[in-house]
Parts: sequence; C-alpha cells; structure tokens
Amino acid sequence: MPRIIAQGISPDRVRVRAARRVVRDRRNRVESRVSRQAKPALPARPSPENVVEVDNVSFAYDARQVLSGISLAIPRGRVVAIMGGSGCGKTTLLRLIGGALRPTSGEVRVFGDSVGAMNQEELYALRRKLGMLFQFGALFTDMSSYDNVAFQMREHTDLPEDLIRDLVLMKLHAVGLRGAAHLHPAELSGGMARRVALARAIALDPQLMMYDEPFAGLDPISLSVIGQLIRRLNDALGATSIVVTHDVMESLKIVDYIYFISDGRIIAQGTPDEIRASNMPFVHQFVHGEIDGPVAFHYPARAYRDDMLGVQP
Ligand SMILES: Nc1ncnc2c1ncn2[C@@H]1O[C@H](COP(=O)(O)OP(=O)(O)OP(=O)(O)O)[C@@H](O)[C@H]1O
Ligand SMILES: [Mg+2]
Repeated sequence: MPRIIAQGISPDRVRVRAARRVVRDRRNRVESRVSRQAKPALPARPSPENVVEVDNVSFAYDARQVLSGISLAIPRGRVVAIMGGSGCGKTTLLRLIGGALRPTSGEVRVFGDSVGAMNQEELYALRRKLGMLFQFGALFTDMSSYDNVAFQMREHTDLPEDLIRDLVLMKLHAVGLRGAAHLHPAELSGGMARRVALARAIALDPQLMMYDEPFAGLDPISLSVIGQLIRRLNDALGATSIVVTHDVMESLKIVDYIYFISDGRIIAQGTPDEIRASNMPFVHQFVHGEIDGPVAFHYPARAYRDDMLGVQP
C-alpha cells in the first residue's frame, strides 16, 4: 500500500475503484449478452442481400491468435464500419475478405462465393470487383496523379487511351482534383494524396470498397471531405463499403452500421444512434476517446518488473 499512498491515491479510493470495476465488468457481460440476443451477428441463413458474410471465422498468424469466431454480414449498398483497438485484427479481417489470407476455420463469402476455396484465377476475378484504400497505401511516387489513377485501367482493361483519359478525369473530378491531374504525389498535401488514392481505388468501378484507416493523419476539414466522399461514392457507384477506422465521430456521421472487435470477437454492434446511446464500457471508451477502460493500451507482454530486472522467461 505505501507505493499507492506515495502516488497520492488513498486506499479508500483504490477500494472504490475496484468495486466500480467489478460493477462495470458485470454490466459489460450482461450487455454483451443482451446485444448478442437482440441482434444476431449473421442472419440465420445466408442472404443474397449480403455482399460479404464472415461466418464463424478464426485466424492466427502462426502462434498469434488474432480472430476467434467472428461472424458479421455486410448488406448490399451499405457503408459499414469495423472498429476496435490497435492490433485487434481489423486489417487482417480485410485481408481475409480480399483473399490475401485464408481463415484457419470458418468461411468468408464475398458475392456468395467462399473466398478461402478460390483458386488464383477466381481470386483475380474477385479482386477486379474490389476497391481497396490501403492503410499505408502510398501512391506511386514517380507517376502523376493522372497516371496513378490510370494505372489499374491500363493493367486490367483493353480500353483505348482516349477513353482511359475520360475515365481518369471523371474519377479525379469525383474527388475534386481534376485540376491536380498533372501533380506528382510529392506536390500534394496529405489530404489531396488520400483523395487521389481514393480516385485510384474506384478506377474500375468496384462493387465492394474497403477502406483501411482512411482518416488517419488528416486535418479535420480533409477528414470530413474524405468521410463525405466515402459516402457519396458508395451511393453514386451503387457499391458497398467497409470502413476500418479508429475515428468514431467521423464514422458515426457517414456509416449505416458499426461492428466493434475486441479479443478476436465482435463484442458490440449497432446503428450510429444505437452506438451513441450505448452504455457498454468498451463502446463508451471508444466513442469518448477515454484512455482508461476495457481497451488495453499495452500489447500483451510478460510482467514489466521481470523485463526490467532481466528475469529469464
Ligand atoms: N504478417 C503478420 N505476421 C505476424 N503477425 C501479424 C502480421 N500482421 C499482423 N500481425 C499481428 O496480428 C495482430 C492484428 O494485426 P492487424 O494489422 O490486423 O491489426 P489492426 O486491428 O489493423 O491494428 P491497427 O489499428 O493498429 O492498424 C497484431 O497483433 C499484429 O502484430
Ligand atoms: Mg490496421
């Protein structure tokens, strides 16, 4: 106890905090049970309305278990957010949906077909229907914005160059950067570069768009612009979108539905209104950006004391 007192925290306050934690954990368990009962993560039967169905999927990178029985559905035309703490497996989930990884167990279905069972040719065909804005997806630095957007069209289609020109300008126009077609990535601001990457991602009119942290590192205005673009492009293209992000406030403005992942599982889900109204501690911590709460700051590690004292594992 002396150490705690030295930090200016009385034993009484420690006891009160411990009691609060017990109450909070109990409420958490009850609420997650209620949320699971009230809204099944996946319809009882697969539905043709779902563009993506993740059905009881588990995945591990060698010894590191990342996802443990995740089920979710993304209906056609919707913009759905996937949120969770850093390292909880959001990018991994996108890679499973895109077929870059195969689940350890369970099934990922995209447009009704099982991605894990696809051969190279089928995966290639699937990826032509997907648009991806990568978390660290930089533009090709030695190409202009124009050529960055044209790249996929030249690689994947036999369209003549004059038609490609019209399409590239249409895509750049859609993100407000037709006038920046000649600029190279080094001449763009961070927000502009993200918009060019967005134009590149929609180059082939994808039916499913996946955004990995589209808001990261943007100022509030660019962030809002990208958010609105995600929504507008989805609706204009008649596409379906998955947005992986930490940015709750921006997502709540533009998405139809939100899934929260923690410890490899879906622990909460709902519409923006349901999420705003939620008292569930995990959701509350996220929505209000609190440091203290169920989302751990530390990557799992052995005892700090053992590491500092050099105790052999
Ligand atoms: N190629 C890999 N090999 C081994 N482990 C990996 C690999 N990629 C990711 N991981 C681990 O898998 C876990 C999930 O990673 P992932 O990138 O999916 O997290 P994330 O939710 O996208 O995190 P962030 O919000 O920080 O981007 C992390 O613990 C990470 O260390
Ligand atoms: Mg990630």
